[in-house]
Amino acid sequence: MAIAKKIRKAVFPVAGLGTRFLPATKAVPKEMLTVVDKPVIQYVVDEAIEAGIEHFVFVTGRGKGIIEDYFDIQFELEATLRERGKTAELKILDGILPAAGTASFTRQQAPLGLGHAVWCARDIVGDEPFAVLLPDMIMRGEQGCLAGMVELYAKSGGNVIAVEECDPELTHKYGIVGVGEKVGNGFKVTEMVEKPAKGTAPSNLYINGRYILQPEIFDILETQERGAGNEIQLTDAMLTLAKRQDFAAFPFAGKTYDTGAKDGFILANLAFALERADIRPMVEAQIKELVGKL
Ligand code: UTP
Repeated sequence: MAIAKKIRKAVFPVAGLGTRFLPATKAVPKEMLTVVDKPVIQYVVDEAIEAGIEHFVFVTGRGKGIIEDYFDIQFELEATLRERGKTAELKILDGILPAAGTASFTRQQAPLGLGHAVWCARDIVGDEPFAVLLPDMIMRGEQGCLAGMVELYAKSGGNVIAVEECDPELTHKYGIVGVGEKVGNGFKVTEMVEKPAKGTAPSNLYINGRYILQPEIFDILETQERGAGNEIQLTDAMLTLAKRQDFAAFPFAGKTYDTGAKDGFILANLAFALERADIRPMVEAQIKELVGKL
């Protein structure tokens, strides 16, 4: 088998409207809502860095300019911190800055769907395999989800999607895969179904928002018709690609939080707060007290 090309670029589609999180998302992009003390997008970029990603491609939209500002220097703030000798705070800011020339921003003028957002990155990605990370899905686990996928990709080549077990009663809400023989730290995908009717799902493994895709997906997306929700869907294009190329599934051992939904956002805050030694004791005690009172 030919040696798989390194995954250097990752696409972050951040152009969605975030209607599930109104009214907050009327003025603040959902990717900038904070989980403990970092915006959601930072968790996802950190996951990409851990996986060896070298170029970060953000597909933004109207009202999302604050994301571009977040990944830039904030001159006045930094000058003031320097003046006041706040070195710890300066270090935090320095740590989030992508190296010059490693972040690109392109615009999806209308929210026509995830597939269309990914397609908007075609010129920046070019003719090489790339990762897609849904920025509202953040993950907790020993090893980052994308890092595990990159390991699998080195063995499998082709396309890789991350999957996670869900409640078998809820498979009709997700993209579900059927898996076959083992390959590397994952499995070959035998089937992919978007929101299968109750009782027809091939497994309870749902696609959790991380993809490694071959560039041929862009040609398919170019002519992809609108699907569910009248949007251009990435899953529809992947189903076409799967007829021509292999897909492997990486079973992520950690847990994914959908921070684009209110309950997922609250749970993410609790879970990540409980991982932090500086605030855990207080948060844990307060949760126990609140639960005791309810
Ligand atoms: P979602 O369906 O979760 O995002 O899309 P949304 O449309 O913003 O959310 P709701 O349903 O209205 O609350 C998954 C990802 O795809 C991006 C979103 O930003 C999100 O990260 N997306 C979606 C785009 O970039 N463009 C689109 O046209 C649609």
